[in-house]
Amino acid sequence: MPILLKDNIATKDKLNTTAGSFALLGSIVPRDAGVVARLRKAGVIILGKASLTEWSYSRMDGEPSGWSARRGQGKNPYILGNPCGSTSGSAVSLAANMATVTLGTETDFMSIR
Ligand SMILES: *[C@@H]1O[C@H](CO)[C@@H](O)[C@H](O)[C@H]1NC(C)=O
Repeated sequence: MPILLKDNIATKDKLNTTAGSFALLGSIVPRDAGVVARLRKAGVIILGKASLTEWSYSRMDGEPSGWSARRGQGKNPYILGNPCGSTSGSAVSLAANMATVTLGTETDFMSIR
């Protein structure tokens, strides 16, 4: 089964893990994230990384939803508007039928302050 991962989930392969930031482009992660290791063991194929709100919404208050320096503005494919969330690329690619399965994370720690 092919899957797209939110770009804050580490993969120890040729895919970059950047959280949408140029600051992490080309960085080397020490290993696959635990969930990635388990997915690979189960035979899942990592197709690629989906865009996200840069730094998973932890960059600043009022950060535009779905925007990152690396990928630009992600949009809800049905209304071409706010994708509502940091896992926006995973949701957008699923909604647009670009992937059958995508994975995201809940990382908006600002909302629990
Ligand atoms: C990862 O980033 C490097 C730049 O450091 C780039 O050359 C390479 O093409 C990127 N890989 C992918 C799969 O985008």
